[in-house]
Amino acid sequence: MQKNLDVQLNLNVRGLGCSATLAINQLCRERELRGEQVYKLGLGQSPFPVPLSVVEALQANAWRKGYLDVHGLQELREAVAGYHNRRHGLSSAAQDVLVGPGSKELMFLLQLVYYGEVLIPTPAWVSYAPQASIIGRRIHFLHTTFEEGWRLTPEHLERACQEDPGRPRLLVLNYPDNPTGMTYTPDELRSLAQTARRFGVLVLSDEIYGELHFQGAHVSIARFYPEGTILSSGLSKWCGAGGWRLGTFTYPRDLAWLRQAMAAAASETYTTTSAPVQWAAVTAFEVGTDIERYLSVSRAFLRLLADEVQQRLNRAGARVTPCQGGFYSFPDLGDRRAALAARGITTSPELCTSLLQQTGVATLPGRDFGRSPEELSLRLAFVDFNGTWAMAQSDLEVTRVDAAFVREHAGRVLTALDRLADWVG
Ligand SMILES: Cc1ncc(COP(=O)(O)O)c(C=O)c1O
Repeated sequence: MQKNLDVQLNLNVRGLGCSATLAINQLCRERELRGEQVYKLGLGQSPFPVPLSVVEALQANAWRKGYLDVHGLQELREAVAGYHNRRHGLSSAAQDVLVGPGSKELMFLLQLVYYGEVLIPTPAWVSYAPQASIIGRRIHFLHTTFEEGWRLTPEHLERACQEDPGRPRLLVLNYPDNPTGMTYTPDELRSLAQTARRFGVLVLSDEIYGELHFQGAHVSIARFYPEGTILSSGLSKWCGAGGWRLGTFTYPRDLAWLRQAMAAAASETYTTTSAPVQWAAVTAFEVGTDIERYLSVSRAFLRLLADEVQQRLNRAGARVTPCQGGFYSFPDLGDRRAALAARGITTSPELCTSLLQQTGVATLPGRDFGRSPEELSLRLAFVDFNGTWAMAQSDLEVTRVDAAFVREHAGRVLTALDRLADWVG
Protein backbone atom coordinates (compact mmCIF):
# COMPACT_ATOMS: atom_id res chain seq x y z
CA MET A 1 0.00 0.00 0.00
CA GLN A 2 2.76 2.42 1.02
CA LYS A 3 4.56 1.65 -2.22
CA ASN A 4 1.46 2.57 -4.26
CA LEU A 5 1.10 5.84 -2.43
CA ASP A 6 4.75 6.66 -3.15
CA VAL A 7 4.21 6.12 -6.82
CA GLN A 8 1.44 8.74 -6.85
CA LEU A 9 3.88 11.61 -6.23
CA ASN A 10 4.10 13.91 -9.26
CA LEU A 11 7.44 13.27 -10.93
CA ASN A 12 8.06 17.03 -11.15
CA VAL A 13 7.98 17.30 -7.36
CA ARG A 14 9.71 14.06 -6.41
CA GLY A 15 13.18 14.76 -5.03
CA LEU A 16 12.53 18.49 -4.59
CA GLY A 17 13.68 19.62 -1.15
CA CYS A 18 12.24 22.50 0.79
CA SER A 19 13.22 25.89 -0.67
CA ALA A 20 16.94 26.43 0.02
CA THR A 21 16.41 29.63 1.97
CA LEU A 22 13.92 27.99 4.31
CA ALA A 23 16.25 25.01 4.81
CA ILE A 24 19.14 27.24 5.96
CA ASN A 25 16.81 28.92 8.41
CA GLN A 26 15.96 25.53 9.89
CA LEU A 27 19.68 24.66 10.26
CA CYS A 28 20.27 27.97 12.06
CA ARG A 29 17.37 27.31 14.42
CA GLU A 30 18.79 23.89 15.29
CA ARG A 31 22.21 25.43 16.08
CA GLU A 32 20.55 28.04 18.27
CA LEU A 33 18.63 25.36 20.15
CA ARG A 34 21.97 23.69 20.92
CA GLY A 35 23.11 27.04 22.36
CA GLU A 36 25.60 27.68 19.53
CA GLN A 37 26.33 31.10 18.02
CA VAL A 38 24.74 31.72 14.60
CA TYR A 39 25.20 34.68 12.28
CA LYS A 40 22.19 34.57 9.99
CA LEU A 41 23.33 35.68 6.56
CA GLY A 42 21.26 32.94 4.91
CA LEU A 43 17.64 34.04 4.71
CA GLY A 44 17.03 37.28 2.82
CA GLN A 45 14.49 39.01 4.99
CA SER A 46 14.19 42.79 5.35
CA PRO A 47 15.76 43.85 8.66
CA PHE A 48 13.63 46.99 8.88
CA PRO A 49 10.19 47.29 10.49
CA VAL A 50 7.01 47.94 8.55
CA PRO A 51 6.57 51.76 8.44
CA LEU A 52 4.35 52.95 11.26
CA SER A 53 1.68 54.46 9.00
CA VAL A 54 1.29 51.09 7.25
CA VAL A 55 1.04 49.22 10.58
CA GLU A 56 -1.60 51.70 11.72
CA ALA A 57 -3.52 51.18 8.48
CA LEU A 58 -3.48 47.43 9.12
CA GLN A 59 -4.74 47.94 12.67
CA ALA A 60 -7.52 50.22 11.47
CA ASN A 61 -8.64 47.63 8.91
CA ALA A 62 -8.37 44.47 11.01
CA TRP A 63 -12.18 44.29 11.21
CA ARG A 64 -12.56 43.72 7.48
CA LYS A 65 -13.41 40.08 7.16
CA GLY A 66 -15.00 39.52 3.76
CA TYR A 67 -13.46 37.97 0.66
CA LEU A 68 -12.32 40.56 -1.84
CA ASP A 69 -12.30 40.44 -5.63
CA VAL A 70 -9.79 37.90 -6.93
CA HIS A 71 -7.98 40.67 -8.87
CA GLY A 72 -7.55 42.67 -5.69
CA LEU A 73 -9.10 45.60 -3.91
CA GLN A 74 -10.00 48.37 -6.38
CA GLU A 75 -8.40 51.07 -4.17
CA LEU A 76 -5.18 49.07 -4.01
CA ARG A 77 -5.11 48.40 -7.74
CA GLU A 78 -5.45 52.15 -8.28
CA ALA A 79 -2.69 52.88 -5.77
CA VAL A 80 -0.32 50.37 -7.39
CA ALA A 81 -0.96 51.70 -10.90
CA GLY A 82 -0.45 55.28 -9.66
CA TYR A 83 2.75 54.28 -7.89
CA HIS A 84 4.28 52.72 -11.03
CA ASN A 85 3.15 55.65 -13.17
CA ARG A 86 4.82 58.15 -10.83
CA ARG A 87 7.97 56.10 -10.32
CA HIS A 88 8.46 54.77 -13.85
CA GLY A 89 6.53 57.08 -16.15
CA LEU A 90 4.13 54.30 -17.18
CA SER A 91 0.49 54.74 -18.09
CA SER A 92 -1.04 51.83 -16.19
CA ALA A 93 -4.56 51.81 -14.82
CA ALA A 94 -6.14 49.90 -11.94
CA GLN A 95 -7.49 47.29 -14.37
CA ASP A 96 -3.91 46.29 -15.33
CA VAL A 97 -3.01 45.22 -11.80
CA LEU A 98 -3.36 41.81 -10.18
CA VAL A 99 -2.82 41.48 -6.42
CA GLY A 100 -1.71 38.18 -4.90
CA PRO A 101 -0.47 36.65 -1.65
CA GLY A 102 3.20 37.41 -2.41
CA SER A 103 4.84 37.94 -5.79
CA LYS A 104 6.22 34.40 -5.54
CA GLU A 105 2.71 32.96 -5.85
CA LEU A 106 1.97 35.22 -8.82
CA MET A 107 5.17 34.05 -10.51
CA PHE A 108 4.08 30.47 -10.06
CA LEU A 109 0.66 31.18 -11.57
CA LEU A 110 2.26 33.00 -14.49
CA GLN A 111 4.44 30.00 -15.31
CA LEU A 112 1.42 27.78 -14.94
CA VAL A 113 -0.80 29.63 -17.39
CA TYR A 114 1.82 30.91 -19.86
CA TYR A 115 3.04 28.20 -22.14
CA GLY A 116 6.62 29.06 -22.94
CA GLU A 117 10.26 28.27 -22.31
CA VAL A 118 11.56 30.05 -19.21
CA LEU A 119 14.83 31.96 -19.67
CA ILE A 120 16.64 32.36 -16.36
CA PRO A 121 19.87 34.35 -16.14
CA THR A 122 22.11 32.97 -13.39
CA PRO A 123 23.01 33.54 -10.65
CA ALA A 124 19.25 33.54 -10.09
CA TRP A 125 16.93 33.77 -7.11
CA VAL A 126 16.40 30.28 -5.71
CA SER A 127 12.72 29.79 -6.59
CA TYR A 128 12.40 30.59 -10.32
CA ALA A 129 13.80 27.28 -11.55
CA PRO A 130 12.04 25.01 -9.00
CA GLN A 131 8.73 26.70 -9.90
CA ALA A 132 9.30 26.01 -13.60
CA SER A 133 10.29 22.40 -12.79
CA ILE A 134 7.20 21.78 -10.68
CA ILE A 135 5.02 22.98 -13.54
CA GLY A 136 7.08 21.08 -16.09
CA ARG A 137 8.24 24.09 -18.10
CA ARG A 138 11.39 23.90 -20.17
CA ILE A 139 14.16 25.95 -18.54
CA HIS A 140 16.99 27.63 -20.42
CA PHE A 141 19.66 28.97 -18.04
CA LEU A 142 21.64 31.96 -19.29
CA HIS A 143 24.84 31.83 -17.25
CA THR A 144 26.31 35.31 -16.77
CA THR A 145 29.87 35.95 -15.59
CA PHE A 146 31.67 37.90 -12.92
CA GLU A 147 33.49 39.81 -15.69
CA GLU A 148 30.13 40.98 -17.10
CA GLY A 149 29.13 42.11 -13.61
CA TRP A 150 26.61 39.21 -13.55
CA ARG A 151 24.51 41.07 -16.14
CA LEU A 152 22.59 39.50 -18.97
CA THR A 153 23.77 41.03 -22.25
CA PRO A 154 21.55 41.54 -25.34
CA GLU A 155 23.98 39.32 -27.31
CA HIS A 156 23.48 36.49 -24.85
CA LEU A 157 19.70 36.87 -25.02
CA GLU A 158 19.84 36.97 -28.79
CA ARG A 159 21.90 33.75 -28.97
CA ALA A 160 19.32 32.01 -26.80
CA CYS A 161 16.44 33.22 -28.98
CA GLN A 162 18.06 32.43 -32.30
CA GLU A 163 17.66 28.77 -31.60
CA ASP A 164 14.04 28.44 -32.82
CA PRO A 165 13.14 32.17 -32.96
CA GLY A 166 9.38 31.56 -33.00
CA ARG A 167 9.28 29.68 -29.71
CA PRO A 168 7.27 31.43 -26.94
CA ARG A 169 9.62 32.53 -24.19
CA LEU A 170 9.42 34.11 -20.76
CA LEU A 171 12.54 35.96 -19.59
CA VAL A 172 12.83 36.47 -15.85
CA LEU A 173 14.85 39.60 -15.05
CA ASN A 174 15.58 40.64 -11.48
CA TYR A 175 17.22 43.95 -10.55
CA PRO A 176 18.43 45.12 -8.12
CA ASP A 177 19.39 41.53 -8.02
CA ASN A 178 19.16 38.75 -5.53
CA PRO A 179 21.82 37.30 -5.13
CA THR A 180 24.45 39.64 -6.63
CA GLY A 181 23.23 43.14 -5.72
CA MET A 182 23.79 44.33 -9.30
CA THR A 183 21.37 46.40 -11.31
CA TYR A 184 21.12 47.51 -14.93
CA THR A 185 21.67 51.00 -16.31
CA PRO A 186 18.85 52.54 -18.38
CA ASP A 187 20.92 51.99 -21.55
CA GLU A 188 21.41 48.32 -20.75
CA LEU A 189 17.68 47.93 -20.14
CA ARG A 190 16.90 49.69 -23.41
CA SER A 191 19.16 47.28 -25.32
CA LEU A 192 17.68 44.23 -23.62
CA ALA A 193 14.20 45.57 -24.40
CA GLN A 194 15.07 45.90 -28.11
CA THR A 195 16.21 42.29 -28.29
CA ALA A 196 13.22 41.02 -26.33
CA ARG A 197 10.87 42.94 -28.64
CA ARG A 198 12.56 41.55 -31.75
CA PHE A 199 11.96 37.97 -30.63
CA GLY A 200 8.59 38.57 -28.96
CA VAL A 201 9.94 37.52 -25.57
CA LEU A 202 7.63 38.18 -22.63
CA VAL A 203 9.60 39.77 -19.76
CA LEU A 204 8.77 39.11 -16.13
CA SER A 205 10.53 42.02 -14.46
CA ASP A 206 11.02 41.17 -10.82
CA GLU A 207 11.55 44.59 -9.21
CA ILE A 208 10.85 43.60 -5.64
CA TYR A 209 14.09 45.37 -4.56
CA GLY A 210 13.52 48.43 -6.78
CA GLU A 211 12.95 50.84 -3.91
CA LEU A 212 16.21 49.68 -2.33
CA HIS A 213 18.34 50.96 -5.21
CA PHE A 214 21.02 52.76 -3.18
CA GLN A 215 20.66 56.02 -5.11
CA GLY A 216 16.88 55.78 -5.21
CA ALA A 217 17.24 55.75 -8.99
CA HIS A 218 15.65 52.46 -9.97
CA VAL A 219 14.47 52.32 -13.59
CA SER A 220 12.07 49.69 -14.92
CA ILE A 221 12.50 47.90 -18.23
CA ALA A 222 8.76 48.51 -18.63
CA ARG A 223 9.72 52.06 -19.60
CA PHE A 224 11.44 50.72 -22.74
CA TYR A 225 9.27 47.66 -23.41
CA PRO A 226 5.84 48.56 -22.06
CA GLU A 227 3.97 46.17 -24.36
CA GLY A 228 5.95 43.09 -23.30
CA THR A 229 6.77 43.58 -19.62
CA ILE A 230 4.95 42.31 -16.57
CA LEU A 231 6.21 44.37 -13.65
CA SER A 232 6.38 42.47 -10.36
CA SER A 233 6.49 44.24 -7.02
CA GLY A 234 5.25 43.81 -3.47
CA LEU A 235 5.57 44.78 0.18
CA SER A 236 8.13 42.18 1.22
CA LYS A 237 11.44 43.95 0.79
CA TRP A 238 11.12 47.75 0.71
CA CYS A 239 8.25 47.79 3.18
CA GLY A 240 9.65 45.12 5.51
CA ALA A 241 6.42 43.10 5.33
CA GLY A 242 7.46 39.71 3.92
CA GLY A 243 5.22 37.86 6.36
CA TRP A 244 2.17 39.88 5.38
CA ARG A 245 2.22 38.19 1.98
CA LEU A 246 1.29 40.76 -0.61
CA GLY A 247 2.63 40.97 -4.16
CA THR A 248 1.48 42.74 -7.31
CA PHE A 249 1.79 42.21 -11.06
CA THR A 250 1.16 45.09 -13.46
CA TYR A 251 0.45 44.03 -17.04
CA PRO A 252 0.51 45.71 -20.42
CA ARG A 253 -3.08 46.39 -21.51
CA ASP A 254 -2.78 43.98 -24.45
CA LEU A 255 -1.94 41.13 -22.09
CA ALA A 256 -5.30 41.38 -20.30
CA TRP A 257 -5.99 37.80 -21.46
CA LEU A 258 -2.97 36.64 -19.46
CA ARG A 259 -4.04 38.56 -16.36
CA GLN A 260 -7.53 37.07 -16.67
CA ALA A 261 -6.17 33.55 -17.05
CA MET A 262 -4.07 34.03 -13.93
CA ALA A 263 -7.06 35.41 -12.06
CA ALA A 264 -9.07 32.33 -13.08
CA ALA A 265 -6.33 30.06 -11.70
CA ALA A 266 -6.13 32.24 -8.57
CA SER A 267 -9.88 31.98 -8.04
CA GLU A 268 -9.57 28.20 -7.89
CA THR A 269 -6.59 28.23 -5.53
CA TYR A 270 -6.04 31.08 -3.04
CA THR A 271 -9.31 32.95 -3.86
CA THR A 272 -8.11 36.37 -2.73
CA THR A 273 -5.39 38.11 -0.75
CA SER A 274 -5.98 39.00 2.91
CA ALA A 275 -8.42 41.94 3.09
CA PRO A 276 -6.81 43.92 5.97
CA VAL A 277 -3.37 43.55 4.36
CA GLN A 278 -4.70 44.88 1.04
CA TRP A 279 -6.20 47.93 2.76
CA ALA A 280 -2.92 48.57 4.55
CA ALA A 281 -1.02 48.19 1.28
CA VAL A 282 -2.94 51.17 -0.13
CA THR A 283 -1.09 53.36 2.39
CA ALA A 284 2.23 51.74 1.45
CA PHE A 285 1.84 52.27 -2.30
CA GLU A 286 0.71 55.87 -1.83
CA VAL A 287 4.22 56.43 -0.36
CA GLY A 288 3.66 59.38 1.97
CA THR A 289 6.52 61.56 3.21
CA ASP A 290 7.08 59.32 6.26
CA ILE A 291 7.65 56.36 3.91
CA GLU A 292 9.95 58.40 1.68
CA ARG A 293 12.05 59.24 4.75
CA TYR A 294 11.98 55.61 5.86
CA LEU A 295 13.21 54.61 2.39
CA SER A 296 16.01 57.20 2.42
CA VAL A 297 17.24 55.82 5.75
CA SER A 298 16.96 52.20 4.53
CA ARG A 299 18.94 52.94 1.37
CA ALA A 300 21.68 54.94 3.11
CA PHE A 301 22.07 52.30 5.80
CA LEU A 302 22.26 49.42 3.33
CA ARG A 303 24.67 51.29 1.03
CA LEU A 304 27.10 52.01 3.85
CA LEU A 305 26.78 48.48 5.18
CA ALA A 306 27.41 47.06 1.69
CA ASP A 307 30.69 49.06 1.61
CA GLU A 308 31.79 47.55 4.93
CA VAL A 309 30.88 44.08 3.72
CA GLN A 310 32.80 44.59 0.49
CA GLN A 311 35.96 45.67 2.35
CA ARG A 312 35.91 42.51 4.45
CA LEU A 313 35.28 40.30 1.45
CA ASN A 314 38.27 41.86 -0.28
CA ARG A 315 40.32 41.03 2.82
CA ALA A 316 39.11 37.43 2.49
CA GLY A 317 40.53 37.37 -1.05
CA ALA A 318 37.07 37.07 -2.62
CA ARG A 319 36.14 38.39 -6.05
CA VAL A 320 32.99 40.42 -5.62
CA THR A 321 31.10 42.98 -7.69
CA PRO A 322 29.85 46.11 -5.91
CA CYS A 323 26.35 45.92 -4.51
CA GLN A 324 24.10 48.63 -6.02
CA GLY A 325 20.85 47.92 -4.21
CA GLY A 326 19.10 45.47 -1.89
CA PHE A 327 20.94 43.54 0.80
CA TYR A 328 22.91 40.79 -0.89
CA SER A 329 26.46 40.08 -1.93
CA PHE A 330 27.72 37.19 -4.06
CA PRO A 331 31.46 36.65 -3.44
CA ASP A 332 33.47 34.07 -5.34
CA LEU A 333 36.34 32.43 -3.45
CA GLY A 334 37.79 30.80 -6.56
CA ASP A 335 41.14 32.55 -6.00
CA ARG A 336 41.43 30.60 -2.72
CA ARG A 337 40.64 27.28 -4.37
CA ALA A 338 43.97 25.56 -3.61
CA ALA A 339 43.97 26.53 0.06
CA LEU A 340 40.34 25.48 0.45
CA ALA A 341 40.92 22.18 -1.37
CA ALA A 342 43.69 21.43 1.12
CA ARG A 343 40.94 21.64 3.77
CA GLY A 344 38.72 19.27 1.78
CA ILE A 345 36.50 22.02 0.32
CA THR A 346 35.94 21.79 -3.43
CA THR A 347 32.29 22.81 -3.92
CA SER A 348 30.07 25.69 -2.82
CA PRO A 349 27.84 23.45 -0.63
CA GLU A 350 30.97 22.15 1.14
CA LEU A 351 32.16 25.72 1.54
CA CYS A 352 28.92 26.85 3.19
CA THR A 353 28.62 23.81 5.42
CA SER A 354 32.20 24.14 6.72
CA LEU A 355 31.79 27.87 7.19
CA LEU A 356 28.64 27.35 9.24
CA GLN A 357 30.10 24.52 11.29
CA GLN A 358 33.41 26.24 12.02
CA THR A 359 32.42 29.88 12.40
CA GLY A 360 28.64 29.93 12.91
CA VAL A 361 28.21 32.08 9.78
CA ALA A 362 25.19 30.91 7.76
CA THR A 363 25.21 31.61 4.01
CA LEU A 364 23.82 29.90 0.92
CA PRO A 365 25.92 28.12 -1.71
CA GLY A 366 26.15 29.50 -5.25
CA ARG A 367 24.86 26.13 -6.46
CA ASP A 368 21.39 27.04 -5.12
CA PHE A 369 21.41 30.06 -7.45
CA GLY A 370 21.91 27.97 -10.57
CA ARG A 371 25.72 27.99 -10.60
CA SER A 372 27.95 24.97 -11.06
CA PRO A 373 28.75 23.43 -7.63
CA GLU A 374 32.48 23.71 -8.37
CA GLU A 375 32.27 27.51 -8.53
CA LEU A 376 33.20 28.58 -4.99
CA SER A 377 30.52 31.26 -4.79
CA LEU A 378 28.12 31.97 -1.99
CA ARG A 379 25.38 34.40 -1.18
CA LEU A 380 25.39 36.62 1.87
CA ALA A 381 22.25 38.41 3.02
CA PHE A 382 23.65 41.17 5.24
CA VAL A 383 20.53 41.49 7.35
CA ASP A 384 21.41 40.04 10.74
CA PHE A 385 20.93 43.25 12.69
CA ASN A 386 18.14 44.95 14.59
CA GLY A 387 16.66 47.16 11.88
CA THR A 388 13.78 48.24 14.11
CA TRP A 389 16.24 49.69 16.60
CA ALA A 390 18.38 51.28 13.89
CA MET A 391 15.33 52.86 12.23
CA ALA A 392 14.13 54.24 15.57
CA GLN A 393 17.58 55.66 16.37
CA SER A 394 17.79 57.36 12.99
CA ASP A 395 14.57 59.23 13.80
CA LEU A 396 13.92 58.91 10.03
CA GLU A 397 16.71 61.48 9.49
CA VAL A 398 19.00 60.27 6.73
CA THR A 399 21.72 62.70 7.89
CA ARG A 400 22.10 60.66 11.06
CA VAL A 401 23.06 57.58 9.06
CA ASP A 402 26.83 57.60 8.57
CA ALA A 403 29.47 54.88 8.65
CA ALA A 404 29.83 55.09 12.44
CA PHE A 405 26.05 54.74 12.86
CA VAL A 406 26.04 51.66 10.63
CA ARG A 407 29.02 50.08 12.42
CA GLU A 408 27.27 50.64 15.73
CA HIS A 409 23.97 49.10 14.62
CA ALA A 410 25.12 46.32 12.32
CA GLY A 411 27.95 45.00 14.45
CA ARG A 412 26.79 41.39 14.13
CA VAL A 413 27.03 41.46 10.36
CA LEU A 414 30.53 42.92 10.53
CA THR A 415 31.62 40.36 13.13
CA ALA A 416 30.28 37.63 10.83
CA LEU A 417 32.28 39.02 7.91
CA ASP A 418 35.42 39.30 10.04
CA ARG A 419 34.99 35.67 11.07
CA LEU A 420 34.54 34.68 7.44
CA ALA A 421 37.66 36.62 6.37
CA ASP A 422 39.76 35.14 9.22
CA TRP A 423 38.49 31.63 8.42
CA VAL A 424 39.28 31.88 4.73
CA GLY A 425 42.58 33.66 5.29
C1 LIG B 1 14.23 38.12 -6.14
C2 LIG B 1 13.01 37.80 -5.38
N1 LIG B 1 11.85 37.75 -6.01
C3 LIG B 1 10.70 37.45 -5.37
C4 LIG B 1 10.70 37.18 -4.01
C5 LIG B 1 9.39 36.79 -3.36
O1 LIG B 1 8.81 37.83 -2.73
P1 LIG B 1 7.34 37.77 -2.11
O2 LIG B 1 7.51 37.87 -0.65
O3 LIG B 1 6.61 38.94 -2.74
O4 LIG B 1 6.72 36.47 -2.51
C6 LIG B 1 11.89 37.22 -3.30
C7 LIG B 1 11.91 36.90 -1.86
O5 LIG B 1 12.90 36.53 -1.29
C8 LIG B 1 13.07 37.56 -4.00
O6 LIG B 1 14.25 37.63 -3.37
